[in-house]
Amino acid sequence: FENREFVLVSNREPYTHERDDGSVSVVRPAGGLTSALDPMMATTGGTWVAWGSGDADAEVTDENGCVRVPPESPSYELKRVFLSDEQVSDYYYGYSNEVLWPLCHSDTAKMTPNARYWRQYRNTNQQFADAICSRIDPSNAVVWFQDYHFALAPRMVREQVPDAFCMQFWHIPWPSWDVFQSCPQYDELLSGLLANDLLGFHLDQYCLNFLDCVSHALDADVDRNRGRIDYDGRTIRVEAFPLGIDTAERRQLAESSEADEQWQSLRETYPIPDEGQLALGVDRLDYTKGIEQRLDALSHLWEWYPDCRERLTYVQKVTESRSQIDEYQHLQASVEERVERINDRFATETWQPIVPIDDHLPQSALAALYREADICLVSSLRDGMNLVAKEFVASQVDDPGVLVLSELVGAHEELGELALTVHPNDTEAFAATIEDAREMQPAERKNRMAQLREQVETNDIGRWKRDVLQAASDLLQQQ
Ligand code: G6P
Repeated sequence: FENREFVLVSNREPYTHERDDGSVSVVRPAGGLTSALDPMMATTGGTWVAWGSGDADAEVTDENGCVRVPPESPSYELKRVFLSDEQVSDYYYGYSNEVLWPLCHSDTAKMTPNARYWRQYRNTNQQFADAICSRIDPSNAVVWFQDYHFALAPRMVREQVPDAFCMQFWHIPWPSWDVFQSCPQYDELLSGLLANDLLGFHLDQYCLNFLDCVSHALDADVDRNRGRIDYDGRTIRVEAFPLGIDTAERRQLAESSEADEQWQSLRETYPIPDEGQLALGVDRLDYTKGIEQRLDALSHLWEWYPDCRERLTYVQKVTESRSQIDEYQHLQASVEERVERINDRFATETWQPIVPIDDHLPQSALAALYREADICLVSSLRDGMNLVAKEFVASQVDDPGVLVLSELVGAHEELGELALTVHPNDTEAFAATIEDAREMQPAERKNRMAQLREQVETNDIGRWKRDVLQAASDLLQQQ
C-alpha cells in the first residue's frame, strides 16, 4: 500500500503480558485469527489495535497504551484498548457472544439481546474508533477490521475521517435475512458494516446472504451478481475469501522431534492405547461445534458395531471458552456427563473408549495428535470455515487417515468431496460413516488424503492474505 500506514483491528490481541512474582511473561493467546495475522504484521509493519486483556499492571505499554512486538524482534506497534469490567461483560460476553455469535450461527433461541449489551457494544466500538483515529491519520491508512466484534466501528471511523480506506473480514457465517431480522438492531449493524470499502466473508453463500439482508433492510442499490452495493453515496464491494492455514508450519511441526517427544508424553499421561485406531476431535468448547452430537454418534457406534469396542478410541481435546456465559457452562456439564456415561457403559479393564484432554497442550503436542489420528471428526452444526479440518490434513505426514466432515461447515465446500460427509444430527448415519472411515482401505485413504493436502496447500493462509490485499489495493487504485 506504498505510503499508507497499515492498521489492523481485532478483539483478541496477538500477545498478552502477565505479571507473575514480579516478572513479566508474554503469552500468545490460542486462536487462528491472531496467529495467522501476526506474521503478516511483522512483515508489513504498522499498528495492531486490540483489547488489552492481560494484566494492565504489567506496565509494559507507554502512555498511549502501545508496546512494540513481536517481543523477540519488534517490528510493529500493538495498541491496547483497555476495557472496564462492565464493557467486558456487556460488549464481549454480552452483545458479541450472546447476540451476534448465536445470531450468525442461526441459533436465535440462544440470543439474549438487551439494551445494556447494545449500549456497551456501541460505546466500545466508539472507543476503538477513537483509538484508531487518535493514533494515525486514517485518510492515509488502510484500516482492516476483523470479525463480528466491530460491526459499528467502520462507520464511526468514517464519521471522523470521511476518506479513510476501511475493510473488514467477517470470520463467522452470515445468516439468511429471516434469521438476521430477529436481531432488533439489524439496520444499524448493516449500516455500520457498509462504511467499509471492502467486506470479506469465507463463502459466496455468506456474501449472498449479506447482500440479501442489505436489500431488505436498507435503501441501497444491491448488485448480487457483481457483489457491489451502492449506499449512502459510496460503493462497497462484497467478496468471498476462504481462509486457509499455514500448511508449511503445520507440516514442519508434525515432522518435528518435539512432536515425537510430545506423543511419547501424551501416551504416558493419558490412556491412549498402542493398538487399534484413534479418532480425534479438537474444538473450542462451543455449542456450534456439535460435540454432543459427535458423542452420541460414537455411543451409537460402540453400541451397534461391537467390533469397534477396544479397537477405536476417541481422543477429545476441548479448550474451555467464554465460560462466564450460561450456555457454555451448560454445554460443559452436558459434554462431561456424556463422556462419563459412555465411558461407564463401554469401558473394559484395559480400555477407555473416550480419552478427554482438558489440559493446555503446546502446538507440538497438538501436531502429534493430528499426525497420529486415524480419523478426525469435525461435526459442527454451523461453522464459518473450521480450520481444524485443514490442520488435520496438513499434519497427516505419514500413514494417511480419514477426515469425517459435517456438511454444515464452510470448509465442506472445499473438502467435502474428498472427506466422508456427515450430518451431525443424523446419529445412525454418522455412526455408520465413522465405521466406513475405520474400514477404508489404505489405497483409498492415501488417494483422498493426497488430494485433500493439495487443496489445503494451494488455498493456504498466504493465498488468503494475497487475495484480500490485492482486492483492497485494486480498489484503492480505482479510487
Ligand atoms: C472465533 C472467532 C474469533 C475468536 C475465536 C475465539 O473463531 O471468529 O474472532 O477470537 O472464536 O473466541 P474468543 O471469544 O475466545 O476470542
